[in-house]
Amino acid sequence: MDLKNFAVFFALMLWQSDGSEMLTSVDPPTNLQVIDPGHLGPLHMHWQAPVSLADKKLCVRYMLSYCNVNSTNCKRVITKQLEYTDGFNFNEEIIVKVRTLVKEQCKSMMELQSDWVEKTYRPPMEGHAGSKVRDLQCIVYNLEYMECLWQNGMNALYGTDYTLYYWHEELEQTMQCNNYIKHQGRIVGCHFQSDDLIEFSDFNICINGSSELGPVRPAYFTLQLQDLVKAAAPDQVKLTLSTAETISIQWEPSASKLKPHCLKYEVQFRGKSSDWETKVISEGVTSTTLNATAGAIYCVRVRAAVNMFCADDSFWSDWSSLQCFTVRSEGGDNETIQLNNLTKLIVLIFLVSITLTLSLSTIYCWVRWKRLIAKKKLSALLNDNVKHIKKCINIDY
Ligand SMILES: *[C@@H]1O[C@H](CO)[C@@H](O)[C@H](O)[C@H]1NC(C)=O
Repeated sequence: MDLKNFAVFFALMLWQSDGSEMLTSVDPPTNLQVIDPGHLGPLHMHWQAPVSLADKKLCVRYMLSYCNVNSTNCKRVITKQLEYTDGFNFNEEIIVKVRTLVKEQCKSMMELQSDWVEKTYRPPMEGHAGSKVRDLQCIVYNLEYMECLWQNGMNALYGTDYTLYYWHEELEQTMQCNNYIKHQGRIVGCHFQSDDLIEFSDFNICINGSSELGPVRPAYFTLQLQDLVKAAAPDQVKLTLSTAETISIQWEPSASKLKPHCLKYEVQFRGKSSDWETKVISEGVTSTTLNATAGAIYCVRVRAAVNMFCADDSFWSDWSSLQCFTVRSEGGDNETIQLNNLTKLIVLIFLVSITLTLSLSTIYCWVRWKRLIAKKKLSALLNDNVKHIKKCINIDY
C-alpha cells in the first residue's frame, strides 16, 4: 500500500469511525421539474431527494445552476430546500441543473457531490425571429405614468396586431395593456397608469401578437422601473444679482412623487453670443451662482434627473424655460478702470492724435482767417484812396 492509498483509506476509516455507514458516492436528486406560473419571467424549480439518502442523518444540500442556453454566465445557488424560484430571460431556451451535496456533518470539511440532473425549459417561441418587436423604450414620467413604445419586427408580417402583457409581484395574474398607444391606426405602444407601476422589483413584459399570415414571435423584457424615470423640468428658475459681479440662480423641483433628495441638476448658462457652459450641481442642492460682467445679458436653463442614491440610471428632464437677466451697468466705472495696459496705450495714442490734429487745424484756420482779414482791410484802404484821388481830380476840373 503506497502512501496515497493509505491516506484515502485512513480518511474513510475516520468517516466511519463515529458509527455511520461509509459513503463513497451520492445519487443526484430525482424528478426535477421546471414550472412556468405564466408570469413572463419567473420559473419555479423543484425536485426530490435521492431515495438512497432516505433515512440517513446526513447534512444534505443542493446546488442549482441555471442560465439561458447560449449563456456562459450561469447562476449558482446552494440551498437546503427542495425548491427555488427566480426570474429568467424568456427570449431563449433555459437550462436548469441540480445536484446533491452531502456531508456527514454540516461542519465537516469533506463533501460528496452527485452528478447533475438537467431540464430544459422552452418558453412559448412560435413564429420566426423577424416577426418579433424591437427596441422597446419605456420611460416613467415623473413617477406618475409610464409610456412604452416599440418598433415593428424587422420582417413583421403584414397586418400584425401586437398585444402587450405584463406582470409584477403585486399582481395575481398577467394583465393585458388597457391603454394602447396608436400611430396611423396601428398599435405602437402602451400607456401605464401610476397604479400599474412598481419600483425595485422585476416588471415583466411580453409583446406578442397575431397576424393572418402566421404566428408572431413573442418578445420578453424585464425592467426595473426606478431606473427609467424622467423627472419633470425644474420650476420657477429665479435669477437675482447677489453682489455686483455675482448672479444667484435658484429653482424648485417640480411637484411630484420624486423625493427632492433623489434629484440632481445641471445648469447651463451663456452670455449674449457665447456658447452654453454647463455646471453640474451636487445632489439635492437647488441653487448656484454665476460670475457676471456689468452690462451683459445672461441666459440660464436648468434640468433634473434622479441621482445615483435613488436609482442606477435615469433620463434627464427637459430643460426649464430660458430665463435671461441683464446686469445693469452701474458698475460701468469699474469696468473702465479695469481696462488692461494695451487698451490704455491705444486709447492714449488715439486721444493724443485727436488733440494734435484738432490744435494744428485750429492754428491753420486761424492763420488763414487772419490773412483774409488783413487782405480785405488792405483792399478797402486802396479803394478809399482811389475814390479820394478821383474826387480831387473831379474838383480840379
Ligand atoms: C400572448 O401572451 C399572453 C401571455 O403570455 C398569452 O396569454 C397569449 O395567449 C399570447 N397570445 C398569442 C397570440 O400568442
